Amino acid sequence: MTEKDYSKYFQTPNLNLARRRTREGAQKIDFVMPANLGKIGRNKKFYIDTYGCQMNVHDSEVIAGILSELGYTPTENENDADVIILNTCAIRENAENRVFGELGRLKALKLQNPDLILGVCGCMSQEEKVVNTLLQKYQHVDIIFGTHNIHRLPEYLRDAYYNKERVVEVWSHEGDIVEHMPVLRQGKIKAWVNIMYGCDEFCTYCIVPYTRGKERSRYPEDILAEIEQLAKEGYQEITLLGQNVNAYGKDFKDREYGFGDLLKVIQKINIPRVRFTTSHPRDFDQKMIDALANRGNLCEHVHLPVQSGNNEILRKMNRKYTREEYLELVRELRKAIPDVAITTDIIVGFPGETEEQFQDTLSLVDEADFEGAFTFIFSPREGTPAAKFPDNVTEEEKHDRLQRLNQKINEKFLAAHKKYEGKIVEVLCEGPSKNDETILAGYTRTNKLVNFKGDHNNIGKLVKVRITEGKTWHLLGEEVNE
Ligand code: SAH
Ligand code: SF4
Ligand code: F3S
Repeated sequence: MTEKDYSKYFQTPNLNLARRRTREGAQKIDFVMPANLGKIGRNKKFYIDTYGCQMNVHDSEVIAGILSELGYTPTENENDADVIILNTCAIRENAENRVFGELGRLKALKLQNPDLILGVCGCMSQEEKVVNTLLQKYQHVDIIFGTHNIHRLPEYLRDAYYNKERVVEVWSHEGDIVEHMPVLRQGKIKAWVNIMYGCDEFCTYCIVPYTRGKERSRYPEDILAEIEQLAKEGYQEITLLGQNVNAYGKDFKDREYGFGDLLKVIQKINIPRVRFTTSHPRDFDQKMIDALANRGNLCEHVHLPVQSGNNEILRKMNRKYTREEYLELVRELRKAIPDVAITTDIIVGFPGETEEQFQDTLSLVDEADFEGAFTFIFSPREGTPAAKFPDNVTEEEKHDRLQRLNQKINEKFLAAHKKYEGKIVEVLCEGPSKNDETILAGYTRTNKLVNFKGDHNNIGKLVKVRITEGKTWHLLGEEVNE
């Protein structure tokens, strides 16, 4: 098949272009539904399979919003779906393998129902190698689009339906900031709010700056309007999203405005809880610490990925801080907010990591007193610098390090949870627990999962819970009526 055969939209990704950063700011545009489409989804159903981070989870809510405006209704059962979209993640190889496995499985469904439209979007679509593989080996995929052009989904669907064309459109330059996209949120209690897109950090192991483009901040007025609307609709908690929220506003040409400024304004909005993710340790400034120390709706939880406790590895990772600087920031945070819970991300088995260097990570976990961590084995991502670093750590060693690290993290997790026993904490009651319908589940301000006995009429509300037992992964408790 030649390129021409695919589609007039044939545009595949290019990692070299994706690496480039221009000085021009992103434009802000408003989402417009193409007028001639009507309700092409009437009597049709959609199913979205989401992989990866919160950013993707929220993108899927936008995709669901667009599909709903076109008349489609959601289904939980992929066998009933007329449109299936896989919103993919490229962060590690195993995330990608899962998607390829799923695509292989969906082929049978497509054979049964040739009218089924199968779409692939998200971060994997931004990778050249993946798109080439999809084009060659997964020809049952009808639509491939990337992270910058979700707003064009209506056109892609139209072409896939009416022209029976395979639609491939992935932009390797960052898109505009599209405001007023339709959103079909998954819940009525907690909501995601994007504050910025992209990442300019270029940690040497990470694919995200290539898949998500350069940093682009939404204007505060647009963010605040969205949050105020959510508050009006009764949402109890919002999480501000960005790959590095601390860099918020650095790209503004017309104003000096940073994440600390944004937090201070959001603090005044009448929404009970505000969280944010993720913070790069390097850009954490005093304004942000002051805002957190003022509390109010800002929760006492900071997710602060450290990645490694060894300076040489941190340097090779291009993290731009030292172990000492990181620990100093942790101390400052604890001084300003004594009960803050700090969680982190850690990579083991970075190319060339020695046992001594790994021991530095273990000792940092103790010193920083983390209350939880996501831990990963380094996964080489094609196109990133670290993928070419000489790597002499054996698979066995990597797994052994991960296991030793996890054991330590779990001990710290349990120790932190034990301290809650006997205390009364505020929990946002989200609904029945997954494993036991008679029990309720929710999170503390410090982001601890609590399973508790209580009044089911309080779902969606903030309640007081006395903690009876701290387990490794959650707390147990009973609602108290004061
Ligand atoms: N933007 C966020 C995190 C993005 S990815 C931040 O910088 O904090 C989430 C986590 O995945 C990272 O913190 C890192 O620990 C891990 N990760 C990223 N690339 C990886 C890779 N190539 N191999 C293993 N883990 C990786
Ligand atoms: Fe990846 Fe680093 Fe950007 Fe996080 S800050 S998304 S780890 S490049
Ligand atoms: Fe994955 Fe993309 Fe998020 S690579 S972690 S879905 S930004």
